[in-house]
Amino acid sequence: MSDVTNASNDLPGNPLRQLHLDQLRQRTSSKWREHPADVLPLWVAEMDVPLAEPITKAVTDAMAAGDTGYPHGTAYAESFAEFAAARWDWSDLAPARVRPVPDVMLGVVAMLDLITAPGDAVIVNSPVYTPFYDFCAYNGRKVIEAPLGRDHRIDFAALAEAFELALGRGRRAAYLLCSPHNPTGTVHTAAELARVARVADSYGVRVVADEAHSPLCAPGTAFTPYLTVPGGENGFALTSAAKAWNLPGLRAALAVAGPASAAELARMPEELSGSTSHLGAIAQTAAYREGGAWLDALLAGLEENRRHLAAAIETRLPQVVYRPQPGTYLAWLDCRALGLGDDPAAVFLERGRVALNAGHRFGTGGAGHVRLNYATSPEIITEAVDRMATAVA
Ligand SMILES: Cc1ncc(COP(=O)(O)O)c(C=O)c1O
Repeated sequence: MSDVTNASNDLPGNPLRQLHLDQLRQRTSSKWREHPADVLPLWVAEMDVPLAEPITKAVTDAMAAGDTGYPHGTAYAESFAEFAAARWDWSDLAPARVRPVPDVMLGVVAMLDLITAPGDAVIVNSPVYTPFYDFCAYNGRKVIEAPLGRDHRIDFAALAEAFELALGRGRRAAYLLCSPHNPTGTVHTAAELARVARVADSYGVRVVADEAHSPLCAPGTAFTPYLTVPGGENGFALTSAAKAWNLPGLRAALAVAGPASAAELARMPEELSGSTSHLGAIAQTAAYREGGAWLDALLAGLEENRRHLAAAIETRLPQVVYRPQPGTYLAWLDCRALGLGDDPAAVFLERGRVALNAGHRFGTGGAGHVRLNYATSPEIITEAVDRMATAVA
């Protein structure tokens, strides 16, 4: 499990091949401490990588200077606008439409507060990131599911039905879109997103796009920011460098308004931006401005891992259905043919000592599935699949 930095042209090596299991086990974060030490953890969305060097330098420089006060200024928003222009051709993103928030999910709650009231509905595409349910409950919103299709793409008939159900209650509604989609890894196309905007507009439903995984699209797959599609102008997006550069411990994220919703974003309470971590903003600014080469090395490594995982599953667990998707570093595994019931993750944990996310917690369509985080070394992926296979042999 080792790789070297390419000294001849200074390109970073594959970040997923640089840490040994014994180094990873020294980590004290959720991924590595939730379970006993004999469990191989491939669950929560943390990556088994060292940090990109420019990020480490920016944060340690700030620490050395005692620059640990409250956040200030627009550098963080500007760095994202520069990254979005360079990566996604998003050239008209005025930093004035970008506001820091403490993290993505608190940003989601803040956007829902701008456009809906307690008791209003929030439509989600199940199976979906579990905190969508938890934070809507916490915020007094009613979740209505529009399940993804069998192909893991947005089912527009189900979406229209959910919009009708939501509005039939005589209240406002928002559509919380996960783009790219966690847990399936689906990357919505520009055409699909434009259709979302058309349908949402025809019902008067506002769109909040969670784009936490946006930099994590496989080489050759284009990410389309929702706010850039025709009709997306009155939406909101939440974004962050935390997933792509492994910075969830340094809380920070950005809320972005489309041109037609900028006035609403301006009403977001100042306290929320003020509660963003200054060190988090420093780290993410360095990621957006100087972390491009590291990100490219990561994306190449994730693509290798995706293929490696698919091959390992085909060989060792042929009854499990895995359809690799180009977004995120999360694999959605259909384990129903194994006959392990609604919660195969419990069986893999108990008998195989592998920690995965239980699919049923992702809502309708999740029972009998598990989510596996492959942002780790190929060796750990091999070992995890071996353990899973042994658990059900
Ligand atoms: C889709 C999605 N949104 C939000 C988050 C969490 O972001 P934050 O920790 O900034 O709230 C995650 C984390 O995995 C995620 O997958």
